[in-house]
Amino acid sequence: MSAKIIDGRAIANELRAKVAIEAKLLTRKLGRMPGLAVVLVGDNPASEVYVRNKARLSVDLGMASFEHKLPVTTSEAELLELVLTLSADLKIDGVLVQLPLPKQIDPARILNAISPAKDVDGFTPLNAGKLASGMPALAPCTPLGCVMLVKNVHRSLAGLEAVVVGRSSVVGKPLAQLLLAENATVTIAHSKTKELPAVCRRADLLFVAIGKPELVRGNWIKPGATVIDIGINRVPGPAGKPRVVGDVAFEEAVKVAGAISPVPGGVGPMTVACLLANTLRAAAMRAGLPPPKLD
Ligand code: GUN
Repeated sequence: MSAKIIDGRAIANELRAKVAIEAKLLTRKLGRMPGLAVVLVGDNPASEVYVRNKARLSVDLGMASFEHKLPVTTSEAELLELVLTLSADLKIDGVLVQLPLPKQIDPARILNAISPAKDVDGFTPLNAGKLASGMPALAPCTPLGCVMLVKNVHRSLAGLEAVVVGRSSVVGKPLAQLLLAENATVTIAHSKTKELPAVCRRADLLFVAIGKPELVRGNWIKPGATVIDIGINRVPGPAGKPRVVGDVAFEEAVKVAGAISPVPGGVGPMTVACLLANTLRAAAMRAGLPPPKLD
């Protein structure tokens, strides 16, 4: 038996369509378009592609896009000043500073300066704390996308055994919080976990965000489990051409899992769509309006 392939592009397209409808409604209520500011420091080619995609999609979905490109030599004080200006700008509902930042800038100091009400990445300590306390919060986009993908397979996650491999603040920890909020039984595993294959084999829902190409093999997966691969790794492919693989050995896993998200075409498209969804949530919240309907 071969697993159901979870089509992240199709599910992201459905979310985008809902975001576009809600953006139009919100524009009428606010008397302006919801606005997203994206800041890129330096010329990292991957970051340039991500930022271009975020700006393009926000315009496509009926939002205002404010792009700020700063040179790699930008000081921490200069970036801090821009973040504070954007946080205070009434036309802007979301502020995103693309990571990684050049080494002279401490990312924690920059992220701390983003207004929590505009923190569409969900990276500020206030939003992380609210999420962990079960309070309404802007949650990080990749974990939100992962939960939408599993809920496309399982209507309810209540009581299911979820294993999250990876404990980063941007994926593993917030994902565990979102799964707890869905009443899953959650284990966070990581690079120091003993008997990692056995821990993974317990999972009804297996999420892998450890940044190691094809680490999770077919025999680490419980037959019938749902597998969400969050890895994006560039590895040498045939004829020296690089190819992108996830953290799960897809060809092995697809024979064992019940459902699996591919790389590319799984979590990736969800992340940007969830960013725009968060921008709408932030815009509605700041205006004291009910949250947009995006489920
Ligand atoms: N760099 C890679 N992914 C992300 C993300 O989701 N948000 C930000 N701000 N930077 C990133």
